[in-house]
Amino acid sequence: MGTEARIEQLRALREQALHAGTQRAVARQHEQGKMTARERIEALLDKGSFQEIDQFVRHQTTGFGMEDKRPYGDAVLTGHGTIEGRPVFVFAEDFTVFGGSLGKVVADKICKVMDLALKTGTPVIGLKDSGGARIQEGVAALDGYGRIFERNVRASGVIPQISVIMGPCAGGAVYSPALTDFIIQVDQTSHMFITGPDVIKAVTGEEVTMEELGGAMTHASKSGVTHFVYADEQEALDAVRYLLSYLPQNNMEMPPSYPTADRPDRIDDELDAVIPDSPSQPYDMKTVIKTVLDEGEFFEINEHWAQNLVIGLGRLNGHCVGVLANQPAVLAGTLDIEASEKGARFVRFCDAFNIPLIVFVDVPGFLPGVDQEHGGIIRHGAKLLYAFCEATVPRVTVITRKAYGGAYLVMNARGIRADLVFAWPSAEIAVMGAQGAVNIIHRREIESDPDPEARRAELIADYEERFNNPYVAAELGLVDEVIEPRETRVKLIRAMEVLRNKRETLPPKKHGNGPQ
Ligand code: HXC
Repeated sequence: MGTEARIEQLRALREQALHAGTQRAVARQHEQGKMTARERIEALLDKGSFQEIDQFVRHQTTGFGMEDKRPYGDAVLTGHGTIEGRPVFVFAEDFTVFGGSLGKVVADKICKVMDLALKTGTPVIGLKDSGGARIQEGVAALDGYGRIFERNVRASGVIPQISVIMGPCAGGAVYSPALTDFIIQVDQTSHMFITGPDVIKAVTGEEVTMEELGGAMTHASKSGVTHFVYADEQEALDAVRYLLSYLPQNNMEMPPSYPTADRPDRIDDELDAVIPDSPSQPYDMKTVIKTVLDEGEFFEINEHWAQNLVIGLGRLNGHCVGVLANQPAVLAGTLDIEASEKGARFVRFCDAFNIPLIVFVDVPGFLPGVDQEHGGIIRHGAKLLYAFCEATVPRVTVITRKAYGGAYLVMNARGIRADLVFAWPSAEIAVMGAQGAVNIIHRREIESDPDPEARRAELIADYEERFNNPYVAAELGLVDEVIEPRETRVKLIRAMEVLRNKRETLPPKKHGNGPQ
């Protein structure tokens, strides 16, 4: 065969690979409002940047008539490309080929790009749309998942890993996305569960729809599995691009910074009026966060879950920061099991990828309740504590109002090695609220008073006078500076500048043993 004929042959094979899925399967995919794997990759990456790998891989499975169906590329599309000019590796499960199911060679392809991503310090993005383990391949398919899981863990904290769920993701297959840094789900067309509605009905008798069980809003608001929900596939893929704009390529780099038109010396008079006169009155902490960050831009994570703790990414003078903040507008800003888990994972993520932490504190304490205690608030709350204590990135705290008891410490207090702690004049830093404190330390005195209620009110006022301010903590050096709310942005930017070269290391160890 001459060279020209060989080139023609290559082109013909490529053409076949482009149409691995049947026309019927592609039409069905489109009818469901879903793109094909190739269309998704095109929509995700910079135009024309996709370089495919393993286009001619085919399965070797025999039996079940599989010998006659050996499409090029099999059920996943893999390769690399760029997002805003920065390289990424990507794999996209192809539901139009064997329902995107994962057999040996599909796993081989995914593992190959994961290995390349890890070797080169490049983020990896997985677009998930699959019927799970390929039933015809049995244990070889299961082994494929095992090999992917192990790579997810090996890459964790080294390169960002993002999963976008764009169809079914069932059984043990869900554990690959769960091991990655972020899960994005497309509303209505994606579902994640360990056991589906039919199995649940057979075992427990419960009746539930796919959407109620494992739809995007379920996981975004109830289980906390999903970090972001988008109405359609294009929005979800745009979100991947946006998310990556905040992240470094790997743990050896700093996150990218961008020039901003927002002045670093901007004073925000409106912050002086944020704290209501009554200490029990809520306000929206997101207003504070957005006011302080560059151009009011805040990329909230887990927006619909554990809303008493707000987390997300933003920038200060062009540099990426991770923000954690109690939200007084939800559960009075108390910390509960879910908020602790949400915060802990985010702190660890930021620490792994060199993203400094800014913590806004208005926390009356941990949420009281038998269900919280029996649900293990002790070990879950300890996760947030552990994560902060372990974090060596710059950590700066701003106490806006309440900072009580254990929750004061857990929210990045000086005692657990915050680098700088600011407090607004409205800060109340104490072991507990005035009422509770007075009832404990002055119980006898109140009971023996001829007018107990008047005495109680007097003692509460006295306690408030003494402790409901930031100056006791400032006297002890536990607050570095009491600042006017309007100066918060300026102070944070200066703090971040001086802390940028912070270098701190933990004692050498195999790994810690955090709370379970
Ligand atoms: C082989 C599969 C498949 C699978 C789907 N297909 N799942 N082939 N192995 N796991 C094929 C179908 O035979 C069909 O082929 C095509 O993909 C499209 O599937 P449909 O059923 O027609 O699509 P739809 O009606 O949209 O339903 C999608 C589905 C359903 C809900 C995902 O296919 C399904 O329930 N599949 C099985 C899911 C499952 O139980 N997987 C194992 C999970 S356990 P044709 O040729 O007809 O087009 C698991 C363990 C992982 O994954 C363990 C890790 C540790």
